[in-house]
Amino acid sequence: MAALTLTLLALVGVSCSQASDCSYSALLNHLKLDATNSGLQIERPVKNWNTTTEVQLEIILSSILDLNEKLQTVTIHIYVKTYWTNEHLIWDPSEFCGLNLLTIPVSLIWVPDIAIQEDASDSTNSQDDPLVSVFSNGKVGVVNRLQLTYICKFDLFKFPFDTQTCNITFSSLNYDANLLKLVKSTNDSTLTKLSGLNMLTEGEWKLVSIKSISYTSLTQRSTLVYQISLKRKPFLYVVNLILPLLFLLVLDLASFFISEKLGFQMTILLSVFVLLKILKDILPSTEDSLPLMAVYCVSIFTLVWINLLETMLIGSLKDVACCVGEERQNAEVVKVKEQKADNRNESAGVSGTDKPEETNSPLDLPGDRQKLKFIMDRTKPGQKAPETQKNPSNRLRWVKIFDSVFFILYFTVVVFSQVFLFSLWKSDI
Ligand SMILES: *[C@@H]1O[C@H](CO)[C@@H](O)[C@H](O)[C@H]1NC(C)=O
Ligand SMILES: *[C@@H]1O[C@H](CO)[C@@H](O)[C@H](O)[C@H]1NC(C)=O
Repeated sequence: MAALTLTLLALVGVSCSQASDCSYSALLNHLKLDATNSGLQIERPVKNWNTTTEVQLEIILSSILDLNEKLQTVTIHIYVKTYWTNEHLIWDPSEFCGLNLLTIPVSLIWVPDIAIQEDASDSTNSQDDPLVSVFSNGKVGVVNRLQLTYICKFDLFKFPFDTQTCNITFSSLNYDANLLKLVKSTNDSTLTKLSGLNMLTEGEWKLVSIKSISYTSLTQRSTLVYQISLKRKPFLYVVNLILPLLFLLVLDLASFFISEKLGFQMTILLSVFVLLKILKDILPSTEDSLPLMAVYCVSIFTLVWINLLETMLIGSLKDVACCVGEERQNAEVVKVKEQKADNRNESAGVSGTDKPEETNSPLDLPGDRQKLKFIMDRTKPGQKAPETQKNPSNRLRWVKIFDSVFFILYFTVVVFSQVFLFSLWKSDI
């Protein structure tokens, strides 16, 4: 009887101990994982101090929020997954009812101090995982989702047909490469594919590739660089800027065939100016490599401006040509008047010179009246004498030839400059 009771008690004891082994707290007790064990939080989790801790790191892009050309920053959402081995947190799952994964607060254990060098975001935008996963083989994993704004030097030469490749550089702040090594866990094509699948929003960009490079920096830090290449979707810029400018240029060319050019060309110049202002708000003012888009806009502005200037020149040349004709006629009128005055002086004698006011009234004498009629006939627009008309019409013809030659030159320059710019744009996109 006593023996049976003992066996029963032993059985109960065994079942009790087995029940407690299946709980998390049994494992936590076994691993001495509690807030008072500061060793786990302070020490890098290795048994021999100069064992290298290998930290596997991968990023998955989940959305592209913004690229700011003026500030030269990129804002994205990424998941950063890091894994490393904690040599103090290893257990045999069979001793704990097959329990092989533990999730514990991040504050209980050591985590690597990895920072992003290009980071320019507010710290408030990071959503840190409050828990870490610990596997029975000592592998510890943590996932952070962060809205990262990082600095990137854009190459805007081919804007808006550009592809931007930016670095996100991860490295430890305190541990050198002997103690903490950063390695990638997934190959690049898988990472690109995963990011493509996880992408929530891309905006005007398209993910081309994610590449990773690891090396030891000059400061002896193990460094892992993720290069994210993004390609712009240029449609909006083509519709909003490039095509309107091209159409305005065609209108400018067409203005050669209308008579009232000046106002029309002025309007075109103003329209181009408005588009230039829009472009100014998009592109940064860096001097080293002027974007092709700016060259394109400025070249069109200059062409339209030159055309306007030519129209003004032609206008003034035409004025001069016609006025020269009028001056000649005026000169003849004066000549005839002088002759008339002389005749009158002869007929009136010496006393006539004393009263010049009287000589100014042409209807004094019947002979003068005839002369005046003769002058009037000659100055009538319909019956111009051939010798006075010859020179101005010649000039007008020269002005017209000049205008045509200018048009041909202008047309050639426009076509060649646009073809040249577009070929530059389209080269190896
Ligand atoms: C650990 O340190 C010792 C002494 O400095 C050195 O000889 C050894 O190579 C180091 N081992 C590793 C893995 O760095
Ligand atoms: C990105 O990192 C690679 C490798 O360190 C470097 O060669 C390249 O110049 C960097 N690119 C930029 C834009 O900083």
